[in-house]
Amino acid sequence: MEISHSFLVRIFVAAIAVGLGGCHSPTIVGEEPENIGDPTWPLKVPDGPVDFRKHVRPILIINCLECHNSKDAKENGGFNLETKKLAMTTGSKPPALVPGKPDESMLIDVLKLGVEHHKSMPPAPDKIWGVRMEILRKWIREGAPWPDNVRLVHPRKIKKW
Ligand code: HEC
Repeated sequence: MEISHSFLVRIFVAAIAVGLGGCHSPTIVGEEPENIGDPTWPLKVPDGPVDFRKHVRPILIINCLECHNSKDAKENGGFNLETKKLAMTTGSKPPALVPGKPDESMLIDVLKLGVEHHKSMPPAPDKIWGVRMEILRKWIREGAPWPDNVRLVHPRKIKKW
């Protein structure tokens, strides 16, 4: 049987996930989003409910996790977006994520700022908003479902191991 390279990468990532999980419920990190290199993804906001795994997780990983992770949050407004609990308890005025209320979520406010503002997220030149921001707004309006044991990691942070 041939074992593919990407399969081995997934096992490796899963092993790190188990290592990071500690003794609480096992943490799921999962594989890299498939759409990671596609700046036009996604073309539209889903008609039905937003799916955290399919629609939201890739956006947060691609656009936010490089800076808003446990190691680097200190230099980035103190905001840590690795887990839902951290997203709701870190930053200058927690919660930056208010499930059900996108208009009260700083996580959305900073996306609407012009690039000249120091809190404009994601910082220039990654200003590819529109559909992605609307997906995040819809997801928060729908209650921001995000399983407690799912921890997000930027792929570049994983490869440093
Ligand atoms: C290149 C690094 C970088 C990326 C990528 C990035 N941020 Fe930030 N973020 C920062 C920095 C730096 C600050 C602090 C800005 C300031 O206060 O002047 C910040 C601040 C924030 C804050 C405010 C924290 C507070 O309480 O003041 C939120 C919320 C935030 N970012 C959300 C996001 C989201 C959501 C994304 C992805 C769409 C994102 N950021 C992508 C660097 C980044």
